[in-house]
Amino acid sequence: MAQLWGGRFTKETDQMVYEFNASIKFDRRLLRQDIEGSVAHVVMLAKQGILTVEEKDAIVKGLTGIEKDVEEGKLIIDSSCEDIHSFVEANLIRRIGDAGKKLHTGRSRNDQVALDMRLYTREQVLAVDALLKDLLEVLLDTMEQHVETYMPGFTHLQKAQPITLAHHYGAYFEMFKRDRGRMKDLFYRMNYCPLGAGALAGTTYPLDRNYTASLLGFEGPTENSIDSVADRDYLIEFLSALSTVMMHLSRFSEEIILWNSNEYQFVEIDDAYSTGSSIMPQKKNPDIAELVRGKTGRVYGALMSLLTTMKGLPLAYNKDMQEDKEVAFDAMDTVQDCLKLFTGMLRTMKFRKDRMEQSARNGFTNATDAADYLVGRGVPFRDAHGIIGRLVLYCIEKDTSIEALSLEELQAISDQFGPDLYEAVSLKNCVEKRLTVGGPGPQAMRREIARCRAYLNEKDLTGSRPE
Ligand code: ARG
Repeated sequence: MAQLWGGRFTKETDQMVYEFNASIKFDRRLLRQDIEGSVAHVVMLAKQGILTVEEKDAIVKGLTGIEKDVEEGKLIIDSSCEDIHSFVEANLIRRIGDAGKKLHTGRSRNDQVALDMRLYTREQVLAVDALLKDLLEVLLDTMEQHVETYMPGFTHLQKAQPITLAHHYGAYFEMFKRDRGRMKDLFYRMNYCPLGAGALAGTTYPLDRNYTASLLGFEGPTENSIDSVADRDYLIEFLSALSTVMMHLSRFSEEIILWNSNEYQFVEIDDAYSTGSSIMPQKKNPDIAELVRGKTGRVYGALMSLLTTMKGLPLAYNKDMQEDKEVAFDAMDTVQDCLKLFTGMLRTMKFRKDRMEQSARNGFTNATDAADYLVGRGVPFRDAHGIIGRLVLYCIEKDTSIEALSLEELQAISDQFGPDLYEAVSLKNCVEKRLTVGGPGPQAMRREIARCRAYLNEKDLTGSRPE
């Protein structure tokens, strides 16, 4: 066991204690960030005259050598070290001798791990943002092609009013666009460097924290050294934003599962994104959508887990905080896998326009428009609502639809009905007249699509502050 802290101990650590305490099994994925942070730290130490240039050069060379050897499989990260920080330091000392022992000058593992995790999370935020953008591109492409693909809009999962596929997808466009907004918000809030906070109370060495922060692409150093090592808010915010992404993906998955069912047949999921049944030869199951819906639970779980871990922790660092990693890594991996697969599934999915339109025609989705027609003839809306209610009841009894009734049948219910009713309640008209901002009418929708396109052409989240 290579340990960083044996001096004041008289006994070896019990093996089970050692294993329970160790985090190398999961924080090994922070190797690159750990080395990046250490390089910035020693460059700053040399600039401040705390290390000589020769010492700094030897350390930087040693660190980059470790990274390269691990990448090439020449150096294995095994469990002989407690965590990734000890692994790097122990290997550095082995490589370059005494100069390696100076790496940790003016630093604690508390600010080190706070930095590593921030660097890692910052990259993940950018990666999720890019995947959200890919998804938005697919949504917008579909929207552009389906401005006049009619389908029923639902409330309570009951057919409500006719809409278009472009309009329905537009709702998801807004959701995932807000998700990107959350990535941006949290990115700028978290982009401050905790290194130099030491164990909790800073250090007596003349560190230049502004310099280290700028070397690592941060806006500046974090303000309070206690908060710097005790804060995991940025991770909680990220997990919360990821949970919202999953909630959106899960709702969308649920719809696709319904649309792909035999009852709806609105869509057909591509063979590449479906699976079969081991017993029922006719089956083609929407497993990817179901799994995305199912995996939402573990991402919410990660958020609840970290919130609970942090609750009640006294300032500053406590070992409990090591528990931030496994759940957060799992959530980050899960969301990225889900986004990639979901986007691929949407890109290859086929739409059954005929089925969608047929479904929009059934189920009295034009009842509101029929009432609005009467309003146009001077009938107060509340009375019109009652008349159309009776009309719908009549249709249900006769198993027919409003537009299939004869003018005599219509006029038996209200003498306000004229021959122009048929045109007013046609599916095309019902959709085309809905031109309020945000509505499904093709003119309104095309303006909306142009705004979405302009948004996607904007500069991406890259790390620099928004102007
Ligand atoms: N493995 C630890 C973690 O993930 C690193 C920090 C250790 N600090 C300490 N004071 N024991 O939180």
